[in-house]
Amino acid sequence: MAVDSPLAPAPVERPPFRPGLEGVPATQSAICDIDGLKGLLTYRGYTVDDLVAQSSFLETAYLLIWGELPTAAQLKEFEHEVQMHRRVSFRIRDMMKSFPSQGHPMDALQASAASLGLFYSRRALDNPEYIVSAVVRLLAKIPTMVAAFQLIRKGQDPIQPRDDLPYAANFLYMLTEREPDPLAARIFDACLILHAEHSLNASTFSARVTASTLTDPYAVVASAVGTLAGPLHGGANEDVLTMLEEIGSEDRVEAWLERAIAEKQKIMGFGHREYKVKDPRAVILQKLAEQLFDQFGHDPLYDLARKLEAVAAERLGPKGIYPNVDFYSGLVYRKLGIPEDLFTPIFAIARTAGWLAHWKEQLGANRIYRPSQIYTGAAGRDWMPLQAR
Ligand code: ACO
Repeated sequence: MAVDSPLAPAPVERPPFRPGLEGVPATQSAICDIDGLKGLLTYRGYTVDDLVAQSSFLETAYLLIWGELPTAAQLKEFEHEVQMHRRVSFRIRDMMKSFPSQGHPMDALQASAASLGLFYSRRALDNPEYIVSAVVRLLAKIPTMVAAFQLIRKGQDPIQPRDDLPYAANFLYMLTEREPDPLAARIFDACLILHAEHSLNASTFSARVTASTLTDPYAVVASAVGTLAGPLHGGANEDVLTMLEEIGSEDRVEAWLERAIAEKQKIMGFGHREYKVKDPRAVILQKLAEQLFDQFGHDPLYDLARKLEAVAAERLGPKGIYPNVDFYSGLVYRKLGIPEDLFTPIFAIARTAGWLAHWKEQLGANRIYRPSQIYTGAAGRDWMPLQAR
C-alpha cells in the first residue's frame, strides 16, 4: 500500500527511546509504591517500617500476593501449608549433588527453581488451587534449595527442614543444624520483609515478561533469579563487603573514594534509579545491624561503612547518590554467620514473594510483553558468497 494512499494507516508517533526504560511506565500495579524523594516504601499501602515492626515475612508475603492482610485463621493455614511443602524431592537433591561445588549458589538456585517445573508444571493458570499450590511450593522450597546447595557443596548431606520452626529460623537452622538465637531469627525475618518487593526492578520486570507468555510459575521465578544475580542488581550486596575489605581501614576511606570517583568506578551499595535520598530499607537495616552488634559483638567493618557513608554523602550526595538496600544488608548477614555468596540467594528467597505477587497480578490482566525497537543495523545488502569474503 502506497504511503500516501488515503487508506494507509496514520504514521505511529513513536515515544522517544529511553535507555533502560528509565521513567517509562511498563505496567500498572497495586502491589508496591516508592516515593524516591521522601524515601518511602509501602507494600499494599503499609509502610515497610510498620511491617518490619509488626509483621512476619510469611504474613507480608500473603499481603503482597493476595492484596490484604490475612485473618488469624488464614495466616495459620498459610503458614501450615508452607511448612508442609518445605521438603524437596530426593531427585532434586541428587541433581544438586551433580552441580560443580565451585559454582555460584545463584546459578544453582536458578537451575533448581526451574527444575520444580519438571515436577509440578500443569500450567493450570485459570485454576485458583494451582495458583495457591505454586505460591506455597515456591515460598516453601526455595529456602530449602538454597540451604541444600550450601551443604552439598561442602560435601555434606542437606539438613532436613524442622517443622516446629518458623520460616526464618528454619532457614538459619538448615544452614547450620543449630537452632538460631531468637533475636538473630527475628532480624533475619525482618531482612526478608525488607527485600520482599520493590516494584518494577529488573528481576520483577523479568518475572512479568516471562509470566506474560503464560508459562509456568517455576519458569517465572527461575528467570527472575537469573536477572537478580547481576552485580548491578541483587549481586551488589556481596560486592559491598569485598569493597569494605579492600578499603581496609577508616583512615583510607577518603583517598579510596577519591580514586574510585576519579576512575568513574561505581561505589557498591550506593545509588538507585528510584531513590534520590537514602533508601528507607538501608535506614532500617542499619538499625538492625546495630541491634545485632549490641547483642553479638561489634564489627569494625561497620565503622568503616559509616565513615564511607559520611564521606560519600559530601561527594555523591549532591547527585542524589546515597546508600541503597545492599549497603548494610551484607554486614547484617555477615554477623549472622552467613557466607558472602549466599547473600544474593537470600535476597531471592525474599523477593520470591514479590515475584509471585507480580506473576498473579500479570495473569489478572495479561497482555504479552512485546515492546518495539529502533533498528540501527544495515539494510539492503547484496549477498556475498563465502569464497568472495
Ligand atoms: N557510585 C558512583 N557513582 C554512581 C553510582 C555509584 N554507586 N551510582 C550512580 N552513579 C553516578 C553515575 O556514575 C552517573 O554519573 P554521571 O551522570 O556523572 O555519568 C550517575 O550517577 C547516574 O548513574 P546511572 O548508572 O546512570 O544510574 P542508574 O539509575 O542507571 O543506576 C544503579 C542505578 C545501577 C543502582 C547504580 O546506582 C549502580 O550501579 N549502583 C552500584 C551497584 C548497586 O549498589 N546496585 C544495587 C542497587 S539496589 C538493588 O538492585 C537491590
